[in-house]
Amino acid sequence: MKQVIFKIESQKKIAESVMQMKLSGNTEDITASGQFVNIKLDGFYLRRPISVCDYDEGSLTIIYKVVGEGTAAMSGYEAGRELDILVGLGNGYDLSKSGDRPLLIGGGVGVPPMYNLCKKLIAEGKHPSVILGFNSASDVFFEEEFKSLGADVVVTTVDGSYGIRGFVTNAMEGREYSYFYTCGPEPMLKAIYNVSNTSGQFSFEERMGCGFGACMGCSCKTKYGNKRICKDGPVLEKEEIIW
Ligand SMILES: Cc1cc2nc3c(=O)[nH]c(=O)nc-3n(C[C@H](O)[C@H](O)[C@H](O)COP(=O)(O)OP(=O)(O)OC[C@H]3O[C@@H](n4cnc5c(N)ncnc54)[C@H](O)[C@@H]3O)c2cc1C
Ligand code: FES
Repeated sequence: MKQVIFKIESQKKIAESVMQMKLSGNTEDITASGQFVNIKLDGFYLRRPISVCDYDEGSLTIIYKVVGEGTAAMSGYEAGRELDILVGLGNGYDLSKSGDRPLLIGGGVGVPPMYNLCKKLIAEGKHPSVILGFNSASDVFFEEEFKSLGADVVVTTVDGSYGIRGFVTNAMEGREYSYFYTCGPEPMLKAIYNVSNTSGQFSFEERMGCGFGACMGCSCKTKYGNKRICKDGPVLEKEEIIW
């Protein structure tokens, strides 16, 4: 973990209440897809945890939904502003288990961590398929970005206003895949757990205090004992989860 001052390079709205922020700064402590950063906001005691959507040497992209006071304040920040960010948090996804045809399933603001994961799997010569789940057409983002990486992409919306009507699990029916990776709201994760027919990895968005393993505020029970979602997670393997 490292505390780094990043500079906002750009920020734009990419879907209903969803912002994409690009930052520049030292990213050398970010070591895996599925890790998260913890952002200090002026006037707020607790930092806000947000997944790494993409990164390379010197740049970081995050995508977040405006849901409360912190994210509302952040959505008003302009290019040039500096942000104090803890980077390199969490375990991230383990790519070594993917097999040749992994399935990536993102729901809502669980979509962003799938992007860098997809990029890395393709760079390793794998053939990922992607299911992106949203409530409605106005919530959809990043379909073209995943397609540009070369992935096979399907979008679902609950109200049927875009793509396949229904839930991500509807789009999983009849599919063959070697392994899966997912991030999204807990009811979605649980439904995927129940219908999936391979092993896989789930990323959880637990409420957090410190974000780096010191306060036990994010502790949860697993089959292998208690784990801190911020440090031992946010990614857990299917076999260890207790719902
Ligand atoms: C590991 C991890 C990765 C995340 N990645 C993303 C992401 O990529 N994009 C995105 O939009 N959101 C993500 N979230 C959720 C995001 O942290 C919250 O939406 C955000 O903190 C809300 O802040 P707020 O001040 O606007 O809301 P408020 O409700 O005012 O926040 C009050 C407190 O509750 C916490 N909180 C509120 N909602 C959540 C939540 N769902 N999960 C965890 N803490 C919460 C806040 O951090 C804050 O401490 C992630 C959460 C975790 C734990
Ligand atoms: S948030 Fe403090 S230990 Fe996880």
